Amino acid sequence: MEIIKIKGRKKLTGTIEIGGAKNSAVSLIPAAVLSDEATIFNVPDISDIKALHEITEYLGASFERDGDKVIVKSEGLECKPITLEHSKKLRASYYFMGALLGKFKHAEMYFPGGCSIGARPIDLHLSGFEKLGATVSLDGDKYIIDADKLVGADIDLRFASVGATINILLAAVYAEGKTIIRNAAMEPEVGNVIDFLNSMGAKVTGKDTSVIEIEGVQSLSGGLTTVIPDRIEAGTYILAGVMNGEDLKIDHVVPEHIKSLTDILEKMGADLKIYDDYIVVNKVPSLKPVNVVTEPYPGFPTDLQQPITSLLTQADGESLVTENIYENRFQNVQYLVQMGANIEFDGDDDRTIRVKGSTPLIADEVVTTDLRAGAALILAGLCAEGETTIKEIKHVLRGYTKIITKLRQVGAEIYLEDV
Ligand code: UD1
Repeated sequence: MEIIKIKGRKKLTGTIEIGGAKNSAVSLIPAAVLSDEATIFNVPDISDIKALHEITEYLGASFERDGDKVIVKSEGLECKPITLEHSKKLRASYYFMGALLGKFKHAEMYFPGGCSIGARPIDLHLSGFEKLGATVSLDGDKYIIDADKLVGADIDLRFASVGATINILLAAVYAEGKTIIRNAAMEPEVGNVIDFLNSMGAKVTGKDTSVIEIEGVQSLSGGLTTVIPDRIEAGTYILAGVMNGEDLKIDHVVPEHIKSLTDILEKMGADLKIYDDYIVVNKVPSLKPVNVVTEPYPGFPTDLQQPITSLLTQADGESLVTENIYENRFQNVQYLVQMGANIEFDGDDDRTIRVKGSTPLIADEVVTTDLRAGAALILAGLCAEGETTIKEIKHVLRGYTKIITKLRQVGAEIYLEDV
């Protein structure tokens, strides 16, 4: 089992380079099989991508990785059922539903895996496929999605789901006629997929808006794209900089993508200098409390809710954090409390916490329950007194490229140990 040890309170200075966005890359790889050959640059080196590599090859396509470039060739792609093991490896395995349905009008797979942060149903994905003319049935636990043909439809999403928007897009590019997705997710990762599909010859408009229109095509040619910078990785290191930074430069970011975070940090009195594609962060003597509410983009991202909670323990006063996207995304709280934080649930629905700061954090042995909870505990460890041990670190390695190396390079005392 791999664990992380962190000796806290070290100054962080130098440059951290942000890699390609996990949540883009994990949809671009399944999208790649829609064309015969696709090249994707800036692919992050995380275990979720290794899992997609395995599934892509299992399906008969080739996956070549050269540094951060990935080439997927789909000549040999077969419409095979995706096994239970492959389906459960990661959340984004579900993008093969849309891609195989688009390409072969048939897909078979199980409910996807991913972090345990709520029920995470996929009903919007499946009803989207049905509106395009597919039937969805269950064979035991396996979904069978089948269509004689896909026909464009007007699909109004109940919730602006990132996963459902992308999955419907992947199926609809090969549907006959026009598909409209209303209340579509506007996350930048969706825009990355739209650009990629259009590079293959798809006809998709409405990027960065809540109404996406797809004019179906009969064939797609080679695709080319670059994964956008990971706004969640950038946000995590910016938070580390607010806690302990001295001229800490977070490089290769799109500041607009993290405006909801930088606006809140500026309200707290953080010292951020924002340039075209990098941000420089310095620790300040005191921070003001603030209220955080997670929302679909461009609102505050749920993926940064747990990380910012670690920072809020260091603000002088009471902050409220409300999680609107997932019902079980506070599993970091008990460990922060164990380290000395003062956090209580507010109200009956367990959707809001009250964080009373500032409380010094003291190192302890804590456990990562999911990817962003792990990032939150690393941040807590970086500002705690003493040596923190973090178990179940595999969750973090799924989503953060070389996190140990990147933090060590700027002065953190952080080590990975195999025990
Ligand atoms: C994606 C990201 C995840 C991020 C989230 C929100 C990937 C692989 N994962 O997750 O890191 O936290 O976006 O930015 O890109 N919902 C339904 N029915 C559905 C689909 C979703 O009720 O069919 C609900 C979910 O339970 C959740 C909300 O909609 O409450 C948001 O889900 P969605 O945006 O789809 O997130 P994911 O694709 O699961």
